[in-house]
Amino acid sequence: MNTKWITSLFVCLLFACTPKKQSVKDSPTKKQTLDMNSNTLKKKRFDTILQGKPVKLFWLENGDIKMAMTNYGGRIVGLYVPDKKGDLIDVNIGYGSIKTYLEADETYFGATIGRVGNRIAKGKFTLNGTEFSVPTNNNGNALHGGYKGFQSVVWEAQQPNKYTLILQYTSPDMEEGFPGNLKTKVTYSLTSENAVRIQYKASTDKPTLVNLTNHAYFNLNGEGSGTILNHKMQLFAEAFTPVDAGLIPTGELRPVSGTPFDFTQPRTIGERVEADNEQLHFGGGYDHNYVLGAKQEKSMNHAAKVVGDISKITMNVYTKEPGVQFYGGNFMGSKNTLKSGAKDDARTAFCLETQHFPDAPNQPNFPSIQLNPGETYTTSSEYHFSVE
Ligand code: GLA
Repeated sequence: MNTKWITSLFVCLLFACTPKKQSVKDSPTKKQTLDMNSNTLKKKRFDTILQGKPVKLFWLENGDIKMAMTNYGGRIVGLYVPDKKGDLIDVNIGYGSIKTYLEADETYFGATIGRVGNRIAKGKFTLNGTEFSVPTNNNGNALHGGYKGFQSVVWEAQQPNKYTLILQYTSPDMEEGFPGNLKTKVTYSLTSENAVRIQYKASTDKPTLVNLTNHAYFNLNGEGSGTILNHKMQLFAEAFTPVDAGLIPTGELRPVSGTPFDFTQPRTIGERVEADNEQLHFGGGYDHNYVLGAKQEKSMNHAAKVVGDISKITMNVYTKEPGVQFYGGNFMGSKNTLKSGAKDDARTAFCLETQHFPDAPNQPNFPSIQLNPGETYTTSSEYHFSVE
């Protein structure tokens, strides 16, 4: 026998006996799937200095979920939750770098919003007899705290443990036209029950307005998986606040019953979104505040339950706030590239922004958003994940 032949035989036997190394694609474990997803979120694309302050990428984990955040805008950039097969899916829409967050034309993805979430008509309001005028950055009205809202500031960040991120920002007196130095603290944490908990706190040295929220854009089938029109949604609200063409509430609390706004029973988001309805025309779809209180759970308002039709990932939203803005991603314009590489096409995500009602300072019947010196603003919201 020649030695060449013996060597070949040996090599063949060696290969036959060596167990085939499983590729990540074959049967990903939860961990592997997460690593594949989180590959799109690179520390080096987030760690930088902005406004003279350090900006970083933070990872939080607890239970079966994991969340990536940046202190630029106090925002969630990725949220990985298990689907019906146990694979981790990124249900939060966002960009892959700080550079994109700075350049892209949609600035609210995942961000902490303040000092006043949603709209103030004509940017005008009166506090204790003094009139104030704030910048009108949205069709003649003020939206989400102005040009330099809390989504575009660098928050001071502390991560005391692997499941908590504490963000603090003091908005100076008259920043974006709002009176009073507003000390704000927002604590993001993941609970062992697979929930994202957001606790807000603020105090001021002059009478001011405060209405904080988080502007996460969700797609429960995963970022880049298409529209959210087949997601099944339930909103535990008997009424909503109808708006005018500029999306300013008329002041009315209108029953949802008999309208395309009725989500008291589970309905797909897309079923009635194109219905011939003046309110849907004004919003270009759903972009409306719902009046909560119809259902309580966990000592909070149960605001919503949403199920991703493909992943079966279920999100329940609870809040101490009296309202929730259901925004169906109507203005998403395919202009921005997301971390998954997909474009932010229309209605490929939805938002449930827990809040006091829009234009509260000009609507005497809406709960007040005035905060006075000596008072502490506290509120919280929770987003719970499970599979159906
Ligand atoms: C809120 C508003 C919408 C839109 C989004 C951000 O949901 O109500 O009209 O401005 O924020 O794009």
